[in-house]
Amino acid sequence: MQETIEMQLRPKTWDDYIGQEAVKTHLRLMIDAARDRHEPCDHLLFYGQAGLGKTTLAYIVAHEMGGVIRTTAGPALEKTGDAAAILTNLEPHDLLFIDEIHRLPKPVEEVLYPALESRKLNLVVGKGPAARTLSIDLPPFTLVGATTRASLLSSPLRSRFGGIFRLNYYTLADMEEIVRRSARLLATPIDDGAVTLLAQASRFTPRVANRLLKRCRDWAQVHGTNEITADAVAATMRLMEIDGIGLEETDRRLLKVMIERFGGGPVGVRSLAAALNEEEGTIEDVYEPFLLTLGLLERTPKGRVASRRAYEHLGFKIPSQLV
Ligand code: ADE
Repeated sequence: MQETIEMQLRPKTWDDYIGQEAVKTHLRLMIDAARDRHEPCDHLLFYGQAGLGKTTLAYIVAHEMGGVIRTTAGPALEKTGDAAAILTNLEPHDLLFIDEIHRLPKPVEEVLYPALESRKLNLVVGKGPAARTLSIDLPPFTLVGATTRASLLSSPLRSRFGGIFRLNYYTLADMEEIVRRSARLLATPIDDGAVTLLAQASRFTPRVANRLLKRCRDWAQVHGTNEITADAVAATMRLMEIDGIGLEETDRRLLKVMIERFGGGPVGVRSLAAALNEEEGTIEDVYEPFLLTLGLLERTPKGRVASRRAYEHLGFKIPSQLV
């Protein structure tokens, strides 16, 4: 199988994995201790924004435990039979990765409880008075769940994870290092100014940085230079309508609508969603976390408010109450 660029850029060992030091230290401890005892690692839950490396971490954990990773996602496990099929196919020390684990249907979640706690798969066969429960032993395995919405996990499910790890946005210094590493793996020369611009526009998220880097590489190639320079980054970002702090057209539109239509807020997410023709969930999960992190938007009990920084960034006159 030919490796995609995404697979090529994905760190495969702890040494390759930049940032998230607290998570790394704690996880390594859990895995080293479990390996010494010849036991599977406790079940793990990774949560945080999309693109911060939850899947990548799961691959590293599988690699460290010497097991094979089987990947699936919450919405793909529609029926209890889907979960039963995956669980009964596991080999000892495999790692089962369930992405978007907050989207598991309830009956499937209930199949997981005994599987996680006592490695048993309880299947009901037959109907009515003839119904029987078959209990099947499962091999020692580790479940790794990933979610962007930890708050949507039920407490019985959450309590079955021995390690719960929150991935934060990366620091600017981490992002610079990630950009340099990715450029090196793509065999593309890059200058210091370009690294800084890319890190600043990366939304502190490796997946975003890698996507921008690939587009800059395209631009440089088509314009006959092989090196990615600061000018190449600036030109690519203009083309992609991404500004210096990583805002896309949709982020700016959200802030603009708040300022122009709702006087800067407070405005409820429902009104905002209607005005933007977007779903409430998309606003809450996709746009808001990053705008909150940058301090461009604030959440108040009365609704969302555009900050002074948002007015400044978009070139609006700052209203008297924010001066
Ligand atoms: N690519 C994606 N996530 C990364 C990380 N944490 N370190 C290095 N490269 C990455």
